[in-house]
Amino acid sequence: MKKIQFFDTTLRDGEQTIGVNYSIKQKVEIAKQLEKWGVDVIEAGFPIASPEDFAACKAVSEAVTHTMITGLARCKNADIDSCVQATQNAQIKQIHVFIATSPIHREDKLHMTKEEVIQSIHDHVAYAKRFFDIVQFSPEDATRTELDFLAEAVQTAIDAGATVINIPDTVGYTNPKEFAHLFQYLQQQIANFDDITFSSHCHNDLGMATANTLAAIENGATRVEGTINGIGEHAGNVALEQIAANFYVRRDYYQCEDNINLEYTKETSEMVSRYSDMTVANNQPVTGVNCFSIESGIHQDGFLKNPQTYEILTPATVGMPATALPLGKLSGSHAVMDKLNHIGYDVDRGDMRRIFPRFKNIADQTKLVSDAELHTMMQDYKKDV
Ligand code: KIV
Ligand code: ZN
Repeated sequence: MKKIQFFDTTLRDGEQTIGVNYSIKQKVEIAKQLEKWGVDVIEAGFPIASPEDFAACKAVSEAVTHTMITGLARCKNADIDSCVQATQNAQIKQIHVFIATSPIHREDKLHMTKEEVIQSIHDHVAYAKRFFDIVQFSPEDATRTELDFLAEAVQTAIDAGATVINIPDTVGYTNPKEFAHLFQYLQQQIANFDDITFSSHCHNDLGMATANTLAAIENGATRVEGTINGIGEHAGNVALEQIAANFYVRRDYYQCEDNINLEYTKETSEMVSRYSDMTVANNQPVTGVNCFSIESGIHQDGFLKNPQTYEILTPATVGMPATALPLGKLSGSHAVMDKLNHIGYDVDRGDMRRIFPRFKNIADQTKLVSDAELHTMMQDYKKDV
């Protein structure tokens, strides 16, 4: 089994979601919940960004007891100094230093040559190393960076003291095959690849974040960065609960282990949803309510005979309520009979031959048939027989 670390950036990249602005108290609560869920690293914020972000980073560092804390820093001494101060009381800590490496970022945003970017990586990783044993370096927009330059940037960071290299797909541009190739290329080019923790940081602009993250894992990454509920800049970051669920459901395939306590997934997702004011969609993988609801007749019938016919993950595994079988026009006689017996009637398959057409007439006129409607239906039925 390969051990995978979970790096959560709900408090930093997650807060880059439009309209999200947690209070310090909420950040501390989320951090404690993430610790309970079992993440290995919490990115508490970007301390130089504002006095409030600095204070939140400090408060999280003081509240969390056994999870590594990191702050984010650009390749600037002032950013690094701010991280040093904000995380000084953390029990376990690292720093996350980044600079963009792609041509469009180098030329149009940073106005720096390749040589200047390399020099900056060297100088700032070395500077950060004076304060932190664990320095993580990210080449921002890595997936739109020339591969040879990416390898040079990564090797420079490692030679200056970085022990974690995170590969961001900043604009959600890559695909699983290409991302796999990027990691394979780094494995060949980076002399001491196996001594370094490689991490992936995928955004979801084209809906590829989960697939890309899993491709990275299959090609040398041993750390995943993402957020709860997939919140984050643009279309968001990879949803960590989806990665954890993949490792659990497909442990035969990925053969990965982690420290995640899956049973706290729903409560973690709910807290982040509440504090970020971002609703979890009904059809959101893993934590969406529809994941554990079955309406159609064939699926309901199969589920009642053996839940595993239509369920690859039990709701209890991720702390969700038991699977619901709501009744609608596509539901079958088996589920309706099961429900009627559950709410106090004693009906068998023979009864159902007469009851079921009545049910279908009601269901055709409504979205879902309520218990009250079932009771009225049964009173009418009893009067008629
Ligand atoms: O998406 C990104 O490139 C980032 C970096 C700061 C790691 O969030
Ligand atoms: Zn990001």
